[in-house]
Amino acid sequence: MMTIDQYTDLYGIVGFPLGHSLSPGMHNTAFRAVGLNAVYLAFETREINDCLRGMRALGIKGLSVTLPHKSAVIPLLDKVEDRAKRIGAVNTIVNSNGRLKGYNTDAVGALRSLQGVVDLPKRRCLIVGAGGAARAIAFMLKELDCELIIANRSKERGEELAASLGCPFVPLDEIKDIKTDLIIQTTSVGMHPDIDQCPVPENLLRKGTTVMDIIYNPLETKLLKLAKKNGCRTISGLGMFIYQGAEQFRLWTGLEAPVEVMTRAVKRALKNTL
Ligand code: ATR
Repeated sequence: MMTIDQYTDLYGIVGFPLGHSLSPGMHNTAFRAVGLNAVYLAFETREINDCLRGMRALGIKGLSVTLPHKSAVIPLLDKVEDRAKRIGAVNTIVNSNGRLKGYNTDAVGALRSLQGVVDLPKRRCLIVGAGGAARAIAFMLKELDCELIIANRSKERGEELAASLGCPFVPLDEIKDIKTDLIIQTTSVGMHPDIDQCPVPENLLRKGTTVMDIIYNPLETKLLKLAKKNGCRTISGLGMFIYQGAEQFRLWTGLEAPVEVMTRAVKRALKNTL
């Protein structure tokens, strides 16, 4: 049994809508596993200014930040780490004695998920999508001297990201002849309930290519099914989700996150929501 008393530390997630967010279950399981007197709640809100005032006033120790607040929160913070500044998105806030600092743990999450499956430096990578997650992953891969190509449905957003990385942009409907070592799918196409959709043409899925989808619901998207069928190595979005959360846990508590316990909790929750 966990105790909630005057010493309990409060954490949470802010976003709108939050839907079936898996973060509360994951973080509360982690707190309990390492014996911390802390709770993590879901705050579904459009009012990011008021949220941060509340965080300061109530001494909330840490927040996860999700859509639509990841960029809007930046000017409200006392400090933002360089990586999050470059990405233009904060997904984690740490409150140290009233000073709020913003971080982006998506890049670390993606990196840890890719490590062990693919030898990253200097790979030729196709990133599908140009939203916040794509930006986080693309800047991380650029730091590892990967050769990047950005593919996106809307030209403006794709070209903007490609220009900030100094790499080529290809419209999503023209990617069928691109040769790559690694494909990273960052759009919402194929996510539950639209599980029969796949944004990548099958002829791009050649043997020897590694394909990562950042979607984790379902765990095996149509893209990953096709990739597996064609002899590609595949990586689901579960690892990135867990590892970005593990990095948040480390930033908030200074402790290594109990990754296995967190993974089990998220898998269980996914089974229940499907
Ligand atoms: P996140 O921050 O989670 O990455 P986002 O900023 O909303 O989310 O980005 C969503 C990405 O998914 C964008 O690249 C978007 O493409 P557009 O720039 O053209 O909007 C892409 N996306 C969303 N729905 C899509 C669809 N049906 N087909 C193709 N791309 C889609």
